[in-house]
Amino acid sequence: MRIAVSGSIATDHLTVFPGRFTDQLIPGQLDHVSLSFLVDDLEVRRGGVAANIAFGLGGLGLGPLLIGAVGTDFGPYEVWLKEHGVDTGGVLVSGERQTARFMCTTDQDANQIASFYAGAMTEARDIDLAALVGDGTRPDLVLVAPNDPEAMLRHTRQCRELGIPFAADPSQQLARLDGPQVRALVDGARWLFTNEYEAALLLERTGWTRDEVLDRVGTWITTLGGEGAHAARGDGTSVRVPAVPDVPVTDPTGVGDAFRAGFLAATARGLALTAATRLGCALAAEVIRTVGSQSYDATPERLLANLTAAYGTEAAAEIATRLPAGTREGGDGS
Ligand SMILES: Nc1ncnc2c1ncn2[C@@H]1O[C@H](COP(=O)(O)OP(=O)(O)OP(=O)(O)O)[C@@H](O)[C@H]1O
Ligand SMILES: [Mg+2]
Repeated sequence: MRIAVSGSIATDHLTVFPGRFTDQLIPGQLDHVSLSFLVDDLEVRRGGVAANIAFGLGGLGLGPLLIGAVGTDFGPYEVWLKEHGVDTGGVLVSGERQTARFMCTTDQDANQIASFYAGAMTEARDIDLAALVGDGTRPDLVLVAPNDPEAMLRHTRQCRELGIPFAADPSQQLARLDGPQVRALVDGARWLFTNEYEAALLLERTGWTRDEVLDRVGTWITTLGGEGAHAARGDGTSVRVPAVPDVPVTDPTGVGDAFRAGFLAATARGLALTAATRLGCALAAEVIRTVGSQSYDATPERLLANLTAAYGTEAAAEIATRLPAGTREGGDGS
């Protein structure tokens, strides 16, 4: 099964200021702010929702197609993704703008000053899904993740036109989408992913009741942080899966993305809803114990340990047999 992931591709540039911002911001002198902080520890982390999810799927051997827009600075990041089994054939390289970048400085009181440069991401709307899938590489599923809103709407619309099943993952972009836009992204999705907060926001934006949403999507999966995840269908199916217990929370960035990768990899391998939700939780647990969203190594041993700890030997074994270690299918990442 070939999965395409459309969404943001970005890097985070994180620095630490060993003083206090508030010592530099002098009351009464804030009309003309011109500050420069001498910072330590520049850390560049790979991210972007689509890249994170594709990384997770690649690690599980699914050979996903990544669809998104980047700048000419993407080179080393592209090499990294390819090395981790991602097919970057759906990536558009902008001639003018750099890859989206989150820049954040944290001071010793944990105050932060940050900016997000969308950059090339705004050009994702120029990517024509029809042209990408026309050469016999038609995906069986397209996940539409947070991105330039026009791109999200276009790729969802194109999935409908092309008759390709799609998964809706509007996540953090829900905040800036209006009701008609959210309805357009969700209606007819095979899978809908939200966290708890986003689930409430989605109902508020669409004006739909929970049942009305369930009538319009195949399955709605809601992640519940340390409580695990819940999945529901219009036919009354309801599944609740606890999270992996006792996971040291080192850095939660990207847990939601890893959950989606684990869940979709499992469904691609023919596992049922409960097992898929469990694999989502097991992969997310690996992200949470490492710093960054693509620093984990989801070895079969680690996943099996997580699955066994949370769901018992039998359930773990059932999933493990469907996820052949180290093998890749659906593309070689070239
Ligand atoms: N403390 C925790 N311990 C174990 N697993 C966790 C914990 N927090 C989150 N998870 C796992 O990660 C999954 C996704 O978490 P969450 O609902 O917080 O996603 P999210 O809010 O979309 O996060 P983000 O957007 O920051 O990636 C959960 O379903 C769960 O399996
Ligand atoms: Mg999230």
